[in-house]
Amino acid sequence: MRFSTNAARLVLLFGWLGIGLSFPTFGPGLADDKGDEPKKGQNIITRDVCVIGGGASGTYAATRLRELGHSVVLVEREDHLGGHTRTYFDPAGRPIDYGVWVYSNNTDQVRFFEHFNIATTGQDFTRISQGSQRIDLRTGQSVPPPVGSLVDAMTRYTQVLLQHPYLADGWELPGPVPEDLLLPFRDFIVRYDLGPAVEVLTLYIQGLGDILDYPAVYIMKYFSFGVILGIQSGFTTSASLANIRLYEAAQTELGADALLSSTIIAAQRTDEGHNMLVSTPDGIRLIRADKLIIAIPPLLQNLEPFDLDYRESDLFAQFDYSHYYTTVLNLSGVPQDVQILNRAVDTPYNIPVLPSTYVFYPSQIPALFSGFFGGGTQNLTEEEVRAIIRDNVRQLRNAGYDVSDDPEILAYGNHSPFNLFVSSEAIATGFYRDLYSLQGQRRTWYTGAAWHAHDSAALWQFTERLLQRVIAD
Ligand SMILES: Cc1cc2nc3c(=O)[nH]c(=O)nc-3n(C[C@H](O)[C@H](O)[C@H](O)COP(=O)(O)OP(=O)(O)OC[C@H]3O[C@@H](n4cnc5c(N)ncnc54)[C@H](O)[C@@H]3O)c2cc1C
Ligand SMILES: *[C@@H]1O[C@H](CO)[C@@H](O)[C@H](O)[C@H]1NC(C)=O
Ligand SMILES: *[C@@H]1O[C@H](CO)[C@@H](O)[C@H](O)[C@H]1NC(C)=O
Ligand SMILES: *[C@@H]1O[C@H](CO)[C@@H](O)[C@H](O)[C@H]1NC(C)=O
Repeated sequence: MRFSTNAARLVLLFGWLGIGLSFPTFGPGLADDKGDEPKKGQNIITRDVCVIGGGASGTYAATRLRELGHSVVLVEREDHLGGHTRTYFDPAGRPIDYGVWVYSNNTDQVRFFEHFNIATTGQDFTRISQGSQRIDLRTGQSVPPPVGSLVDAMTRYTQVLLQHPYLADGWELPGPVPEDLLLPFRDFIVRYDLGPAVEVLTLYIQGLGDILDYPAVYIMKYFSFGVILGIQSGFTTSASLANIRLYEAAQTELGADALLSSTIIAAQRTDEGHNMLVSTPDGIRLIRADKLIIAIPPLLQNLEPFDLDYRESDLFAQFDYSHYYTTVLNLSGVPQDVQILNRAVDTPYNIPVLPSTYVFYPSQIPALFSGFFGGGTQNLTEEEVRAIIRDNVRQLRNAGYDVSDDPEILAYGNHSPFNLFVSSEAIATGFYRDLYSLQGQRRTWYTGAAWHAHDSAALWQFTERLLQRVIAD
């Protein structure tokens, strides 16, 4: 069933909820459940802040605000928190993270894990002692490694990054936007002679789609200085090797303040506060919140129910996005200390042709691998993804691995829409300046990857700074 924000529908719903035809105003003396857990039959949930989305950014925002003494309700569409974090458990209970798996280091990341008493450990790359096998997964043909000095190319890349330190804080770009940031990545590679580093760069920053066409700034935001430090001095991960535990702990702490399997169906946002209708498994409720934090991808299709004005709609409509999928699969026949990189024999820098697998990465469980799969700009069905992956695996036979003809896919994750992006022209003419000018407008703030970078720890830091402004307002 599809709701629109049209006034007749709103009046109908509010009427049905028994709260009268006019929107209630904020003020003392209203009989509702401010600060308490919503009880059965209670239709109105009143909080200081409503957070939309329970991924990395929204979960951080909601739990941190509560810690700082503000009342919160979080609205998450799925039946659990975690967003891109996915953990598969085998029948013996052993975990495989096949979404978010490692964290770069900053004080907010450390404090967040400590708050929930979740132990961390260094990421162990030594398991992959035989290193990477480069195979064209369309044929099984072996592909040679990149030529030239990786270290020299990475040094040149790092030097360029260091000329743009503001990229570590968000999207506050200088004006005019430096030309290097706007170059298509393919031209940026040539300008800085980065050929030998393209494999490493593109392996870490998966899920973008046609990476050579991207404005270079997106590569620099994703393969950031923080990531370079992580590669140098090690990333951290959950000591249990199950990153979902962090979100389970957050969910427990939030209790009834987290509305799961829930979505906003209509909203009225005003300078006095917000009234939002939320569809929950227990029926439709009214959320009244003084402030709103939106931590879901800011696409029109996601934000339509939020009473957008022309300026907001116009900006959100400009985003395009990529498709990204992950799996856990049984690759019995491939040694447990090898990772399979999909490289194309006949493309620039051997970048694989999407849609296809990027990499099969061995887990700590014998025979089981996580598979990372790029859809590019194609929205594929689960069946289509599974079919291409099976075909990719079959090609491994031609590469000499005794894998099954019908490999078992034990878990599947759809991470689309993944990366939100706009054109170089839009960036040059101030898209992100305009986007950022929405922060705090209409008592609404935004966080999440589209507002900074695809990096959980960097998003916690970004969200922490945002919360200071939300609280101060
Ligand atoms: C496969 C994969 C691996 C990654 N690996 C790493 C890694 O190792 N390290 C790292 O730091 N980063 C990693 N990232 C990137 C990083 O984790 C993400 O960028 C980060 O999770 C983004 O957080 P977010 O808060 O913006 O959004 P998300 O985590 O996507 O959260 C958004 C949440 O909002 C919910 N939602 C969406 N629409 C609605 C709606 N209409 N109403 C209510 N709820 C809604 C979603 O269900 C989701 O829970 C990875 C990403 C992917 C996809
Ligand atoms: C992580 O960052 C903190 C604060 O910046 C620092 O004190 C600590 O040494 C770092 N830890 C690692 C493992 O790099
Ligand atoms: C993987 O498949 C092999 C043979 O196809 C099977 O023997 C093994 O039990 C499977 N392993 C897991 C963990 O499912
Ligand atoms: C992909 O297509 C399906 C079916 O049309 C649609 O429901 C879904 O929202 C699309 N996903 C994305 C990320 O665009």
